[in-house]
Amino acid sequence: MKIKLEFPKNFLWGSATASYQVEGGIYNNDWAQAADTTGKVPHAGESTDHYNRYKADFDLAKSLGHNAHRISIEWSRIEPEEGKFNLAEIEHYKKVIRALKARGLTPLVTLWHFTSPIWFNDKGGFYQKDAPKIFARYCAFVVSALRNEIADDVFVATMNEPIVWSQNAWFSGNWPPFKKTVWAFLRVVKNLMRSHNAAYDEIKKATPQVNVGLVKNNMHFTADWKPWNKIAAWFMRWFWNHRFLKATYKKCDHIGLNYYFHTHFYKPFGMPLGTPKNDMGWNLDPAGLYYVLMELRQYNKPVYVTEAGLADRNDTYRTEYIRGLVQSSHRAIVDGLDLRGFMYWSLLDNFEWAHGYDQEFGLVHVNRKTQERIVRPSALVYKTICESNTLTLE
Ligand code: BGC
Repeated sequence: MKIKLEFPKNFLWGSATASYQVEGGIYNNDWAQAADTTGKVPHAGESTDHYNRYKADFDLAKSLGHNAHRISIEWSRIEPEEGKFNLAEIEHYKKVIRALKARGLTPLVTLWHFTSPIWFNDKGGFYQKDAPKIFARYCAFVVSALRNEIADDVFVATMNEPIVWSQNAWFSGNWPPFKKTVWAFLRVVKNLMRSHNAAYDEIKKATPQVNVGLVKNNMHFTADWKPWNKIAAWFMRWFWNHRFLKATYKKCDHIGLNYYFHTHFYKPFGMPLGTPKNDMGWNLDPAGLYYVLMELRQYNKPVYVTEAGLADRNDTYRTEYIRGLVQSSHRAIVDGLDLRGFMYWSLLDNFEWAHGYDQEFGLVHVNRKTQERIVRPSALVYKTICESNTLTLE
């Protein structure tokens, strides 16, 4: 028997990208600088050349049944020197947003996705006292410059995954500026909270009608029966999933959720999850998305899944994983969550931060030598879901 899970009318279906990961030709941000000067991380270089190929890429997204698409704006292009804004780059992003709308793709625009201008980093990045003020000025400038493009039907997020970024850049030292200090990490997290809140206020002063939120990575934390593992799961649920949101949700018109992980505490002894793993070695548990979504009910805001996906070069698990994620999303809606959209990460294989181009998350494979786009079979299964606004269970 076939069961059809229908989604609400006007549900947004699409995929997500981020500026430094797809655009190419970005040389003026902290990541590019760290790649050039330290060699500790790779450089994105030409990437997928999306900066020049965005129209064709959006044609592709439309042909895959999407009705929405998430992009980010590269701060280092807009404000290459402190306080000096590059209007030619604003024009570029205007064209990008118009190109999305012309294809019937509702834009979700993130203003900061992990990369900052070199001058901002040189001054201390998000560690410095003035970070909220500087960040809010940038955000308000962009939104007000794009006001005609994003007036009432575009979703703006101030920032992407503040805790993931702080953890990698200031705690485990994997990403620039490669710091490993707990106190600095905690201060950066605080400053990011303040930065979001300040940006929200500044944006709303200039353009009150714009729908502003933030994008948060939350995980499904579980534990076996051992009390210390239960405490670890409880602590991480608070620290990772809720602390940032509790400090910012009042200044969010919506919440964007990124889901990748089910983290199960079982050591010492006990059993790991036993789910299949993706190419990054991450557990694949699409059912976990349901629990993470339901934790957001307490904030009483419209929610969008702004990223969920997997690295899977051979497309072995992608179809089933996407179907599982979509099923979890539907279950959350049935159970009362105001969920309004789902963006797969990512449209294209792209620059996966410290992993460079080795990890392939795309619905569409990108040939690194020719830039040819090759649609993966799973993208066509997702297309059927998007176009019918329905998931059919066999
Ligand atoms: C980030 C993306 C990244 C993806 C896969 C998310 O944490 O927002 O930039 O590519 O995960 O690792």
